[in-house]
Amino acid sequence: MRNEAPPPVQVEFPLQRAFTFAESGPVLLISTRHQDKNNLMTVSCHASMGFEPTLGICLGPWNFSYAALTETGECVVAIPPASLLTRVVDIGNCSGDSCDKFAEFGLTPQPALDVQAQLVAECLYNLECRVVNRSLVKAYNFFVLQGIRAWRDPAPADKRSFHAVGDGTFIIDGEVRDLRHKMTKWQDCI
Ligand SMILES: Cc1cc2nc3c(=O)[nH]c(=O)nc-3n(C[C@H](O)[C@H](O)[C@H](O)COP(=O)(O)O)c2cc1C
Repeated sequence: MRNEAPPPVQVEFPLQRAFTFAESGPVLLISTRHQDKNNLMTVSCHASMGFEPTLGICLGPWNFSYAALTETGECVVAIPPASLLTRVVDIGNCSGDSCDKFAEFGLTPQPALDVQAQLVAECLYNLECRVVNRSLVKAYNFFVLQGIRAWRDPAPADKRSFHAVGDGTFIIDGEVRDLRHKMTKWQDCI
């Protein structure tokens, strides 16, 4: 049957707002430790790179965490569950230069094994990382991180992560459809 509805018409919007709508994965917490101070920041601008546990994160130089990552070259990338959404947004709206975010937001630092930065015990996953490439930092504030050790909550009360839409709203993971029986070529992933 022919669709009589007119086709939708695209309207232009400010280019500088456009990067946020292509953000790919779940919202992250980046944990750093610098000069004996633990810190956390919220990051939604990131990308998977290749098939190693390698990812890139965009960190603005105005963040306290930027100096920590630049100087120590290491961090923990944590995936928070949806139950932490409000706290994660608050963590991204204050700076570690004036508070202890673990204490302020009731999160538990857990020592990592290969980096000084702390794991976030309440998160679904934690990835100990080292900065392995800084060639895009100057131009794009883009740090390439190599995961060196991975941790997970063995029994999470809330398995959902969440995504930033880019306008201050967030999408929490919804319906889960189990297609593991069709993943015959990718047994290693299940
Ligand atoms: C949902 C959300 C996503 C954010 N994503 C990023 C990001 O990708 N890169 C960035 O530099 N800052 C991002 N921010 C801002 C930082 O988290 C914020 O500047 C934070 O206060 C930095 O903390 P710090 O000064 O303790 O490092 C985001 C904030 C929110 C709320």
